[in-house]
Amino acid sequence: MNPKLRHVLSARDFTREFIEGIIASAAVMEKALVEKTVLPNHAGRVISTFFFERSTRTRISFEDAAHLLGAQVIPCENAKESSSVGKGESYEDTFRVLGGYPLDAIICRSDKSNLGELARFSQVPIISAGDGGGEHPTQALLDLYTIWKEIGRLDELCVLLHGDLQSRPVRSLAIALSSFERNMSIFVGPEKLQLEKETMEFFFLSRRMEVRTPFVPPVLDLRLKLWEEVDVVYLTRFQDERKVISPEEYAVARRDFFFSPDKLGKMQKHARVLHPLPKRDDEVDPALTPEFDHRIAWFRQAHNGVPVRMALLHWVFTGEFYNPPLW
Ligand code: NCD
Repeated sequence: MNPKLRHVLSARDFTREFIEGIIASAAVMEKALVEKTVLPNHAGRVISTFFFERSTRTRISFEDAAHLLGAQVIPCENAKESSSVGKGESYEDTFRVLGGYPLDAIICRSDKSNLGELARFSQVPIISAGDGGGEHPTQALLDLYTIWKEIGRLDELCVLLHGDLQSRPVRSLAIALSSFERNMSIFVGPEKLQLEKETMEFFFLSRRMEVRTPFVPPVLDLRLKLWEEVDVVYLTRFQDERKVISPEEYAVARRDFFFSPDKLGKMQKHARVLHPLPKRDDEVDPALTPEFDHRIAWFRQAHNGVPVRMALLHWVFTGEFYNPPLW
């Protein structure tokens, strides 16, 4: 990571120390929010949220986080239409302009998996809020914070990643998990939606995480006691807007990888089910709510987005983790 211009573009840049620093800061931020005590004051700082794709959680939690820290926010929602990109301006020129304004960060969701490239034109830190079919690094941070809070550790975990394995939250979470020790990631999804070879090679080279793939439903259900063994199940929405497979194949995938109460029933008491949301009723049984079973953690997970993004913004602004003396 560039120590001066703190772009946040890929979970590949996260070290264990960085993730632990953000998690510790987020825990302090969350405590201060709950107890309504003092938060770091970033009055005078200005960020812009520039979103080329739809968003509920990522955009609102980033904007809430910035406001809670006293920073001002300039939002640009639906940027494909509402910014000059809609008039034909290139993404590159847009970033040359935005990246030259006196902003403290640009939070951008791109539809083109090009944020790494665009960040080169910016003198302002770029934080990825989801990069097309690529990565979603801040989602990985809040996912890890959730696992740490709910299960108590980030090493020696067995994590089953389920559904659309090419979705950006899966990619970033799996990469971030490989910064820890003795984790196992099990990828369960359609053959045509497995993680690409390049990311698999990254895991192989990092040598810290054991990887198992692929599994298909009959094997999964009949021969392997998978649900019984896992600490975390990470469900995903099939991101059909990426058009990786045909609409018919997406429909089959939704049916084959439907998450139902019987699967949850097999899981251990301490295990948790996460989902970056939004979820669809034809992918996850609508009966599965936190009231139905406490192991359903996805709304708590979404709410963790605020303290985690506060911790991240504080780090981007100052280069430091938020760790005030306790008195
Ligand atoms: C995800 C995304 O946008 O990639 N949502 C999120 O940011 N929490 C997941 C999705 O849209 O499927």
